[in-house]
Amino acid sequence: MKIGIVIGSHRQDSQSRKVGLYLEQQLKSLGTETWLHDLAQDPLPLWDENIGSGEGQWAFLPGLVERLQSSDGFIFVCPEWHGMATSALKNFFLLCGAQSGLAHKPALITTVSGSDGGAYVVAELRASSYKNNRLCYIPEQLVIRNVGQVLNNHSDENNAEAHNYFVERASYTLKLLLAYADAMGAVRTSGVVDLEAYPNGM
Ligand SMILES: Cc1cc2nc3c(=O)[nH]c(=O)nc-3n(C[C@H](O)[C@H](O)[C@H](O)COP(=O)(O)O)c2cc1C
Repeated sequence: MKIGIVIGSHRQDSQSRKVGLYLEQQLKSLGTETWLHDLAQDPLPLWDENIGSGEGQWAFLPGLVERLQSSDGFIFVCPEWHGMATSALKNFFLLCGAQSGLAHKPALITTVSGSDGGAYVVAELRASSYKNNRLCYIPEQLVIRNVGQVLNNHSDENNAEAHNYFVERASYTLKLLLAYADAMGAVRTSGVVDLEAYPNGM
């Protein structure tokens, strides 16, 4: 079982990265293989017509697709900026078409807010970001509000009540993601999926 984690913040050492690293650690403790791509530390070029060339700025893409194809599920961690998902994360999805390795795999949306936001990003990702790549968002999500006060390594930086709540909630949600990842392999091997006939969603 392998889960890929994509961090959507543009900021170095972001709160989203902190949350992603926490979730990664929890997955590892459940015996799950992981990888993490931080779009601030390893930014992707904006889409252009040469995307399929495998050359120049696109030479990295086959390696990324291989990584996605080898994964059973995903977590997308994204801060809410001006009530939106970040440009970096939306661009990630723009680079990922039907054959990118996301299709019919479960994904957990995890949003981050310095205050009490985060819901707009959930709504945005559920409304757009999956049509052509056929990613399947699971019906649970994590909305990490007041993110500065939870999931810190030093307990004196945490609001104990909020921190404990998110620890429990994350534990439950990660186990659910793994259960979906386990179950959805059967959809991909069922023989029903045909991304050649229908490369784009309706
Ligand atoms: C450009 C910008 C826009 C923001 N807009 C929102 C917003 O709409 N809602 C919200 O809850 N927080 C907003 N914030 C605050 C972020 O929630 C907060 O900075 C968060 O920690 C950012 O996560 P990051 O460290 O992963 O980048 C905004 C922050 C920035 C930099």
